Amino acid sequence: MIRVAIDGPAGVGKSSTSKALAQHFGFAYLDTGAMYRACAWWCLHQGIDLDADELDERLITEAVGEFFTEGHADVTVDPEDPKVLADGQDISEEIRSAQVSSHVSKVSGIIPVRHILIAAQRAYIAREASADSFSQGRGIVAEGRDITTVVEPDAEVRVLLTAREEVRQSRRSGQAGQGVGADDVAKRDRADSKVTSFLTAADGVVTLDNSDLTFEQTLEQLIKLVDDAI
Ligand code: C5P
Repeated sequence: MIRVAIDGPAGVGKSSTSKALAQHFGFAYLDTGAMYRACAWWCLHQGIDLDADELDERLITEAVGEFFTEGHADVTVDPEDPKVLADGQDISEEIRSAQVSSHVSKVSGIIPVRHILIAAQRAYIAREASADSFSQGRGIVAEGRDITTVVEPDAEVRVLLTAREEVRQSRRSGQAGQGVGADDVAKRDRADSKVTSFLTAADGVVTLDNSDLTFEQTLEQLIKLVDDAI
């Protein structure tokens, strides 16, 4: 079983390249950002005030705990069509809304919330070692902000994907045209970098700056890194 951990800031193209990489190798794909987004969506849905000057961290943590550990949340790991479900309802599109994007860092900045999600993410990753999992034991690509450092620091392949800020901003506004909520990636990265370290590579993590690379070239480099690890 090969575990591929990919971290990086918003708008760097992590999701699209990670999905294509997983498809290439027949691996599962775990979008950990989607899990945090789903938590923000769930809190907003429960009427929890995420705009309060002082967040009710205990209430948010309880809501997230209920969402993830009492079986309301489900995440599918097929890279062709990864989904996030809440009580069986497909919320994969709703979690990309501008409203969720602008609130997600508040939820992901709460340390006990992170502990719940890190445990859930490790469980999804560990499940792929089994022959009756989606990847039939082949492996998984997990992407986010703290996969190379916290969730799976022992992953066989660890990559930090980066790109210059103006490049990321313009990729993100390109996605807005496809129904993905545009948001202030610089602001989100600033908030996120207070709790996760994805702006510089940790020891043993390969940095791949794709500012001047096409999607195909980025994918090619990632494939090579995985091939070298197999
Ligand atoms: O990757 P994406 O932009 O969808 O992530 C949404 C948000 O989820 C991030 O802005 C961050 O607040 C949070 N996140 C995180 N740790 C991760 C993945 C995402 O805190 N591993």
